[in-house]
Amino acid sequence: MGEMNTKAMFKLSYGLYVCTAKKGDKLNGCIINTAIQVASEPNRISIAVNKANYTHDMIKETGECNISVISNDATFDLFKHFGFQSGRDVNKFEETGAGKIAEDKISYKLAENGIPYVETGINAYFSLKVEQTVDLGSHTLFICEPVMMEVLSDTSSCTYEYYQNNIKPKPQAVGTTPKGETVWRCLICGYEWVGEELPDDFICPICKHPKADFEKIVR
Ligand SMILES: Cc1cc2nc3c(=O)[nH]c(=O)nc-3n(C[C@H](O)[C@H](O)[C@H](O)COP(=O)(O)O)c2cc1C
Repeated sequence: MGEMNTKAMFKLSYGLYVCTAKKGDKLNGCIINTAIQVASEPNRISIAVNKANYTHDMIKETGECNISVISNDATFDLFKHFGFQSGRDVNKFEETGAGKIAEDKISYKLAENGIPYVETGINAYFSLKVEQTVDLGSHTLFICEPVMMEVLSDTSSCTYEYYQNNIKPKPQAVGTTPKGETVWRCLICGYEWVGEELPDDFICPICKHPKADFEKIVR
């Protein structure tokens, strides 16, 4: 048997979505790349959500969510707002203007089910009702019935690859630290950590990504 070349994992292709939920008065949402149509008769859409996400608990408890399909019009602000912070710590739906959040950069509306969907950088949305829940260890797979769907724009859907190449900020050119120390930079958000060896259990304080998402900069 050949070696396990884990780089093959990066050949899988994904779309990107804002997955939103509502529990009591609390509105929240996170970025996911794991929404797919898994059956046609009846029509079923599955989403996989990390158990560490606050949105996960809200969906598990209420059995409902919306999926807003991210388009190529989306900016990094949308990913930062929903993907780099948790609803446990912040209110992602705190209004900064009527129907606007994230310093007025993102607008949203409530769907018929009372759960928000995003309008900025989005080309469609779905309202989902959870039909089956599968425990997958790190994630829960929610298999859902779509109860409402709407197209919002004709812009192409954003793939994970398009996000990596065109939306995620590129690491900036670096200078030299005065003392010439080694710097590790988070490929996701650009956070820099100075030191020779980044600890194996290091988690980026800004975007919560692990050591694997850091690059060593030789200055
Ligand atoms: C590009 C991108 C893709 C992501 N894909 C997923 C995913 O498929 N599943 C998931 O559970 N979290 C995913 N995340 C991480 C969550 O969006 C992130 O942990 C979020 O802060 C959780 O927020 P919450 O605690 O308010 O639910 C992704 C984040 C980004 C930026």
